Amino acid sequence: MSGPNTEYDPVEVTPLKAEQVDAAVTEALAAIEAATTLEELKEARLAHAGDRSALALANREIGALPPQARKEAGQRIGKARGRVNQALAARQVTLEEEREARILVEEAVDVTLPWDREPVGARHPITTLSERIADVFVAMGWEVAEGPVVEAEWLNFDALNLGPDHPARTMQDTFWMEPAENAIVLRTHTSPVQARTMLTRTPPIYVVCPGRVFRTDEYDATHSPVFHQVEGLAIDEGLTMAHLKGTLDHFATAMFGEGITTRFRPSYFPFTEPSAEVDLVCFVCRGAAVDADGATCRTCRGEGWIEWGGCGVVNPRVLTACGVDSQRYTGFAFGMGIDRTLMFRHGVEDLRDLFEGDVRMTAAFGTEI
Ligand code: DAH
Repeated sequence: MSGPNTEYDPVEVTPLKAEQVDAAVTEALAAIEAATTLEELKEARLAHAGDRSALALANREIGALPPQARKEAGQRIGKARGRVNQALAARQVTLEEEREARILVEEAVDVTLPWDREPVGARHPITTLSERIADVFVAMGWEVAEGPVVEAEWLNFDALNLGPDHPARTMQDTFWMEPAENAIVLRTHTSPVQARTMLTRTPPIYVVCPGRVFRTDEYDATHSPVFHQVEGLAIDEGLTMAHLKGTLDHFATAMFGEGITTRFRPSYFPFTEPSAEVDLVCFVCRGAAVDADGATCRTCRGEGWIEWGGCGVVNPRVLTACGVDSQRYTGFAFGMGIDRTLMFRHGVEDLRDLFEGDVRMTAAFGTEI
């Protein structure tokens, strides 16, 4: 850039001096470079390229110069302003790009994040398992039967050969509905559904009845005044204990997997004769009674078997009481605890976890369709 024109410029004004113009340009470029946001750049533009900036003022002075000096001054100022405007434009582009990039990062939306913050409820595992059990039997052609939880004493006890003074009644600590003379109880087992079924249907009968039952038990890790049983009843011509065993082996395998079968131990129930307790092969040690390290199996406590429920051949007295021809038909029945089955299957150690309504418990089971 050429220096001031002393020859033609006796009235040259200060802002038009080359050093001053260069200084203004240097200052402007520094301010533009220093602007880190579009707002700061706007301020720099106002200060160094705006109407009141040094270069704009200098530009205005050109008119005051003698005509001979105008051209050179005009070129100098024009170039200076050009440089500043170019730097502004370049910085503008850079800062806009930076802002775009930042917005892309800051305002990025992760479309894979869960959008639904309302937790979806899960069905109670007892409900799910009851249905699974029913499915095992429905797949064999059985039907699901139901009965009321508030039940007639006669159906809960008498019809099942548990007369008023029968000692087995005390084993089933009963909730009585008031007034007592109405002889209504909260059913202590699902067996009254057997009686109801026989009274209302004609053989052959194949029914499974999952349901809620009640006893005046203490509430602890293995007892609850409300719990769940599943009852099975088959009445047909020629049914034997062998059919019962085959049915329960299938049920056990369906619940606990291949190789988990049952054994019977002699027992007594008034409604069956003969009667048996049903044990399962321990599904942890698979009957070995010891775990992989040779220590006593904790699940079956070294037995190799786990108690599962009761069963037997339906007592002819029950058939007769419920209007079934005991000369023509025989039948078998069984009753298992659903809660117990669930605890075995899923390693639930405290029965109370099933009843206290903590959604962390039920949610862990998720929803089965
Ligand atoms: N009702 C019995 C109970 O609650 C269980 C039971 C045993 C049911 C034998 C049966 C059966 O149908 O045959 O202890």
